[in-house]
Amino acid sequence: MSDTLQLEPPIQAGRLVLLSPSAATTRALGALVGRLLDPGEVVLLSGGLGAGKTTFTKGLVAALGSSEVVTSPTFTLLRTYASTPVVAHVDCWRLEELNEVVDLALEEVLDDGGIVVVEWGEAAAPLLGAQALIVTISDPGELAASARRIELTDQSGRFRERLEALTPRLAEAAR
Ligand SMILES: Nc1ncnc2c1ncn2[C@@H]1O[C@H](COP(=O)(O)OP(=O)(O)OP(=O)(O)O)[C@@H](O)[C@H]1O
Ligand SMILES: [Mg+2]
Repeated sequence: MSDTLQLEPPIQAGRLVLLSPSAATTRALGALVGRLLDPGEVVLLSGGLGAGKTTFTKGLVAALGSSEVVTSPTFTLLRTYASTPVVAHVDCWRLEELNEVVDLALEEVLDDGGIVVVEWGEAAAPLLGAQALIVTISDPGELAASARRIELTDQSGRFRERLEALTPRLAEAAR
């Protein structure tokens, strides 16, 4: 498998499916995605335990200028990094009701121009899914243990052109 992100067919407008060969490459993809976000935007990350949601977030936060250590905010639910824009990193794993997501007051972060990144983002989808970039990380099975399939998509189309512009830049996310 190549060291860089591989684009998987079929190529569809508004949807990118990639194979990442390593944690470092997933992190580099997080950085590329971080740089294409505007203030007030949302990334919902889904994928099982150890899929690579935090790894992706590490790259995203670092690319926005914070050198803080990024870990899953499993017990704190939300951590804010002093990047530009500020990133609010949320973990919905332990949340059982949508009200608990509502209580995190993420709309305020967004209104203030912050970026919201949510692990176990499915839980926040009823609230934020329509406007979010959705990143789904899965095990491609037949490949090396360190390979991940990463799908980038969105429901609104607001990210469509930016996802298309990302395609020629994927080689930057080398190991
Ligand atoms: N291609 C890859 N992409 C991402 N992580 C990878 C890859 N290959 C191996 N890994 C490893 O898998 C682990 C992913 O852990 P990470 O904390 O990012 O997962 P997570 O989805 O946030 O899990 P959790 O649900 O427990 O928070 C790390 O140890 C990372 O080094
Ligand atoms: Mg995590």
